[in-house]
Amino acid sequence: MVADVIRKILISGAGGLIGRSLSEWFASRQAQVVPIRRVPADCPCAPAVAWNPATGWFDPEPMEDADLVIHLAGESVSAGRWTAARKRRIRDSRIQGTRQLVEAMTRLRRPPQKFFCASAVGLYGLSPEREYVETDPAGEGFLPTVAVEWEAAAMAAAQADIPTTLLRFGVVLDPAGGALGKMLPPFRWGLGGRIGDGRQYFPWIAGPEVPPIVEFLSDRSESVSGPINLVAPQPVTNAEFVRTLARCLNRPAWLPLPASVVRLLFGEMGQEMLLSGCRAKPQVLQDEGYRFRYPSLDSCLRAVLENVGT
Ligand SMILES: NC(=O)c1ccc[n+]([C@@H]2O[C@H](COP(=O)([O-])OP(=O)(O)OC[C@H]3O[C@@H](n4cnc5c(N)ncnc54)[C@H](OP(=O)(O)O)[C@@H]3O)[C@@H](O)[C@H]2O)c1
Repeated sequence: MVADVIRKILISGAGGLIGRSLSEWFASRQAQVVPIRRVPADCPCAPAVAWNPATGWFDPEPMEDADLVIHLAGESVSAGRWTAARKRRIRDSRIQGTRQLVEAMTRLRRPPQKFFCASAVGLYGLSPEREYVETDPAGEGFLPTVAVEWEAAAMAAAQADIPTTLLRFGVVLDPAGGALGKMLPPFRWGLGGRIGDGRQYFPWIAGPEVPPIVEFLSDRSESVSGPINLVAPQPVTNAEFVRTLARCLNRPAWLPLPASVVRLLFGEMGQEMLLSGCRAKPQVLQDEGYRFRYPSLDSCLRAVLENVGT
């Protein structure tokens, strides 16, 4: 039971899509959840951990004695075109932010027992012909390059004897935000459709699956460390995703978004995030015997859409 193991947990990016659901999950299990918040250095913001990303300052006292630190914070990668300034913020917020957090953890009198850092299956190559598992090398492009540096920054914690796990998320499907939150309005209006030729893989994971996986891994982080793919065991292509979402919403989805329009509207971001995708496999989770609650896209969408109404 998590309450026996995790009494105090620190979460950066606690206000984001994944951070909110993890905070609720662990709080409901009687763990003390302490958000790591970006604030000016002199802000009295207990019971949170204050963090000033401009200087790398963390308030050390509330960080002491944590059982688990989960680092999710980072500038959104999907909020618009990747201008030079946005790319810098995406990269710096993750790599510098992770370095700062790891340094702060290693300076503590009582460092955390475990460290989990977000990453993404966008790290892999993009060949539609093959499945990618955790031991596969990174691909090419902006996202893989950022993810490799981000993971390297996190693994410095392992060198300081803090067991470190890299949560390589697929697309987290939660109607409260992220990709599904953006797709729901047009699909509800019957304006959905495949992107490009629809053959690119869409590596998804149900939003409500994330907290139980993190809890499962937190019980095993001594034996299971390094990269873990957080994706469902039944991957789909973009065309299959669109058909399933339309069926669950009882709407048509006949309006394809041509690749040329995606490139025109979103540039490099559209190419890497919308027109490309990878077939990632949750090899480590399956080897460890994790039983997925939402293994199929249909079961996931029916569960997450149930509470928001269609
Ligand atoms: N959701 C997905 O499908 C998905 C897939 C693959 C990887 N990931 C990765 O998993 C992590 C969490 O994802 P999410 O969907 O929960 O993200 P999110 O909703 O965009 O939240 C990210 C959080 O990061 C913090 N943040 C934003 N800009 C920042 C900046 N410039 N510097 C430092 N912190 C900043 C904010 O936290 P506060 O305002 O609370 O401080 C924000 O709530 C992200 O790093 C993301 O790249 C997510």
